[in-house]
Amino acid sequence: MKSPAFLEAGIFATPRRIVESPQPTGAPPAGGVRIVVQSTTDDAADRAAFRAGLLATPATSSPKFFYDPQGSALFTAICELDEYYPTRTEADIFERHRDEIARALPSGAQWIDLGCGDGVKARGWLEPSDARRYVGVDIAGPWLRSALDGLSASLAGGKSRLRNLEVLGVVADFTRPFDLHDVLAERPEMPPVFFYPGSSIGNFVRDDARAFLASVRDHIERHPSQRIGKLMIGIDLVKDRATLRAAYDDAVGVTAAFNRNVLRVANRLLDADFDPAAFAHRAVYDEAFGRIEMQLVSRRAQDVRIGDDVRRFEDGEVIATEYSHKYTIDGFAALLESAGFATGDRLRCWRDRLDWFGVFVTEPA
Ligand code: AVJ
Repeated sequence: MKSPAFLEAGIFATPRRIVESPQPTGAPPAGGVRIVVQSTTDDAADRAAFRAGLLATPATSSPKFFYDPQGSALFTAICELDEYYPTRTEADIFERHRDEIARALPSGAQWIDLGCGDGVKARGWLEPSDARRYVGVDIAGPWLRSALDGLSASLAGGKSRLRNLEVLGVVADFTRPFDLHDVLAERPEMPPVFFYPGSSIGNFVRDDARAFLASVRDHIERHPSQRIGKLMIGIDLVKDRATLRAAYDDAVGVTAAFNRNVLRVANRLLDADFDPAAFAHRAVYDEAFGRIEMQLVSRRAQDVRIGDDVRRFEDGEVIATEYSHKYTIDGFAALLESAGFATGDRLRCWRDRLDWFGVFVTEPA
């Protein structure tokens, strides 16, 4: 099968302008939240790509369009499903090995939480690792401030030194190149710890995952701190097909609703008239590529208006909406190595008992 173009080529290809924060850098308010609207998001370009993907054959849609408020709520619900093991398995690994993992990280670091959401996953690491600064990076700009205000308020109430943690938000779409060098260099004494949990990297095809990792490695390498920074990343591991498929096609249909919701997003953003009920949810595991592919399958021949265009979908025609790549331990170590990260003794990995999920910690080679 031909792969969706947005996934195979070029999601890293377009350099974006950087919109500078209106606030001066260098003097953050004590205890407050500073949002650096250093946005690499581009709504007009996103809309154009979204539209082009849906009009193309085969039709595609990028996973980033899942996450409107309703899609985000559905994803939260997915994380609670019995079938969706990654979230709770990763949380178990964090729980069981918290202190040991924290000892593998530099203390007094600045944490860069990639795709931070509400910051709750990172929250549990700030104290054990004695973090001094928290940089939440997320694509959801409007939501970021209130999310980080919430985090900041929860820290302010405590007795620990986290009360004075500097909290910073950066709005960025890291399917595009991102540049946090200057932001991180504001704190030259704090080595960066990049935190990328949840196997979110699974959305990238391998070449794009490598480019993303290489960019993280470059940020760590170029940071002026004496002590070296680290990457901590959660990876969903290859396992039996039935377990994988069930995780993306749950009995209650939450994942199906999450998948179909992207058609509502299209209706709103692109002035389209998709009928979500006219598309069936499907999740297939492609063993050769080691990835789940989520699809929306047209239940009948139908014409859909997308702005000024009409797209005909044949009965059974597919819109590819998401890849979720799974890795073996060795396969992911090789990917890290190809992105310039250390392997061998300087690569650590913690797993659950069933080897379903891995938490890796490494540093530039
Ligand atoms: C957020 C990309 C890690 O691939 O497992 C969950 C998204 N899609 N169920 C994943 C998702 C369908 C999730 N990631």
